[in-house]
Amino acid sequence: MQVKEEFKPTIVAFCCNWCSYAGADLSGTNRLQYPANVKIIRIPCSCRLNPMFILRAFQRGADGVILCGCHPGDCHYTTGNYYARRRMTLLFSMLDYLGIERERTRVEWVSAAEGAKFAATMNDFVETVTKLGENKRLEDLRCKSE
Ligand code: FES
Repeated sequence: MQVKEEFKPTIVAFCCNWCSYAGADLSGTNRLQYPANVKIIRIPCSCRLNPMFILRAFQRGADGVILCGCHPGDCHYTTGNYYARRRMTLLFSMLDYLGIERERTRVEWVSAAEGAKFAATMNDFVETVTKLGENKRLEDLRCKSE
């Protein structure tokens, strides 16, 4: 008898060094659970995220991408997250154009003291992306390994 394997989405989480990465660290320290399929990439600030990184992640097989940064007004570089917010708004309209579901990408502001929020956000995001299923868009541009 063949057992159908449960779909586990690949999630890429870009976290700014000063708040969200520390929040992720705190959730780990407090032993709060979030799925292991969330792959965290530490970036210096949310504004360091070039929107092309997100498209590249989808092209390389990510099922969901989340950007986490400091709360507005709390950015270590003063205004970095305002730039990130504007860029992401533009990216969302581009994702619509490409046919990638809007729910596969999310922006969240998580401070260094919000370990519980980080874990809850990741759990919620993974659940949302799991319901959407595998990301098939941009699949034809992926490198095939043989
Ligand atoms: Fe965290 Fe800029 S340093 S968003």
